[in-house]
Amino acid sequence: MGKLKKIKHYWNKRDDAGRYFLWILSYTKPFVPQLAILMIFDLAATFLSVGMAVIGKQLIDSATNGNVSELWSILALYVLVIVGSQGLYIISGLLSVVVYEKFGFGIRKKVYRRILDTCWLDISKYHTGDLMTRLTSDVSAVADGISNTIPTILRLIVELLVTFFTLAYYDLKLALFALLVAPIAMLASLWLGKKLKYLQVKVQQTESKYRSFMQESLANILIEKSFCLEDYSEERLTALRDERIYWVLKKNRTNMLASAAMGFSFQLGYIVAFAWGAICIANRTITYGTMTLFLQLVNRIQSPIVNLAQLVPKLISMFASAGRIIEIQALPKEEYKGNSITAKNVGVKVTSVSFGYGDELVFDDANIDFKPGEFTAIVGKSGIGKTTLVRLIMAFTSKMEGNISFYNDLGEELLASPDARRIIAYVPQGNTLFSGTIKENVLMGNKNATDEEVLEALRGAAALDFVNELPMGIDTVIGEKGVGISEGQAQRIAIARALVKRAPFLILDEATSSLDEITEINVLNGIRKWTPAPTCILITHRKSVLEYCDREIQIVNKKLREAI
Ligand SMILES: Nc1ncnc2c1ncn2[C@@H]1O[C@H](COP(=O)(O)OP(=O)(O)O)[C@@H](O)[C@H]1O
Ligand SMILES: [Mg+2]
Repeated sequence: MGKLKKIKHYWNKRDDAGRYFLWILSYTKPFVPQLAILMIFDLAATFLSVGMAVIGKQLIDSATNGNVSELWSILALYVLVIVGSQGLYIISGLLSVVVYEKFGFGIRKKVYRRILDTCWLDISKYHTGDLMTRLTSDVSAVADGISNTIPTILRLIVELLVTFFTLAYYDLKLALFALLVAPIAMLASLWLGKKLKYLQVKVQQTESKYRSFMQESLANILIEKSFCLEDYSEERLTALRDERIYWVLKKNRTNMLASAAMGFSFQLGYIVAFAWGAICIANRTITYGTMTLFLQLVNRIQSPIVNLAQLVPKLISMFASAGRIIEIQALPKEEYKGNSITAKNVGVKVTSVSFGYGDELVFDDANIDFKPGEFTAIVGKSGIGKTTLVRLIMAFTSKMEGNISFYNDLGEELLASPDARRIIAYVPQGNTLFSGTIKENVLMGNKNATDEEVLEALRGAAALDFVNELPMGIDTVIGEKGVGISEGQAQRIAIARALVKRAPFLILDEATSSLDEITEINVLNGIRKWTPAPTCILITHRKSVLEYCDREIQIVNKKLREAI
């Protein structure tokens, strides 16, 4: 790396840290009152424990002076302070759990919502297992950092200062000597910090991979069984675990190294303070009480330093995890702008649209007008761009060039956007049912639909007959991805979910692919009779369907054109 590049690299890194810090701060704001109470309790406990050391000195001094009556009252105070400080620790511990839970959920909810609000094409590049890791363990690391690590760090700093000044009051030289550990600890943590952040990101990445694999594998047990892949899958899991263990151990080694260095300097400081105190006693320059104060305070001045140093790795983990969450939040966000169009006789015009997922274009200056009320079939071989056209109409990507807009008889227009999805009912390719009852699945199309409307939609999708034959009817529970019913049945429920929305624009993407010809024709009849009659785009492979359509469109040379 050139010198300039290197400087730029560090400059950018500094920028990152600042951004992460602001991000964390913005999430901390709503919890400031709770955190403040937590801090006050913590600090009170700290003051009490330093006070304990001072009382201890008084106790021993009174004892050596033979002042028994004073001894008892000091002893009583000592016990009181001990009970008080323990009580404070208990309360702050309980409070910290509450803050952690609330805070963790607060962040998790926001990140979850942000994932839902992110442009589909961008978020779909992440594996669900990876997103789950970010939602669970990364969010936990951040929540732990804010509810535990940061308050502890602040408390330790105060503890350090209070102890230092108390000790300095009795013996400045000793206080300064005890502080010598600080630079060593700081240097070690700075040096190891960079390495630790890198290692933490690695640990989380391998965790994501590991989780993604398990999740995908469990979702596809059938494939593993069909191809006798049980052993192979187990081996892959083991390999991923090994990779994870490698980074976890590496991170732990670095952590341990940091702790050991700190522990050593701590011990060293302690021994010197001990020796110094002993010499002073021999020279009779201090009392026995001051000696015990020394020992306790030296301990108390160094343990915050060592603890601080040990918390640095946790803080770094938190920053690394925050970075992984920020990465998701930096993806393009979708927004509802509140635009709408009178939902009657809606058509959609595609004008000069160019789009490709990568460098290669799927559409290059494509134009078409789907007129209001028209029933259009799109045919074409697999991989030609049929689903991509639907995604562009649904505005699932922000990268498209050109213009797609909905229009109606009244001359109103609405650009393809999240807002426009309100007037579209979409049946995607593949199995898209959720676990739950059939009714719950249909209601996703329109949460306010009555039972009659649900049944009506099922009838329109030629699904009512088979649903009625089920013992529980529309209350039949289906599993993840529609387990428990056939694929063709699942497709018809998905169509009913779209119909119940009564949207003016309906898109079916190979939504009848698993149906026999007669059932498919029943479905199409149901849709054509549906009121209000939607404008419809039907992606299909079956020629027999074409006679039910007003028009046939093809994708040729990355353009849209009428079939000839
Ligand atoms: N999410 C995606 N990322 C990258 N390329 C994609 C993605 N989805 C589809 N493609 C590519 O875009 C082209 C068109 O795909 P698609 O519209 O799904 O075809 P069709 O629906 O006609 O079978 C294909 O070459 C496919 O490989
Ligand atoms: Mg497709």
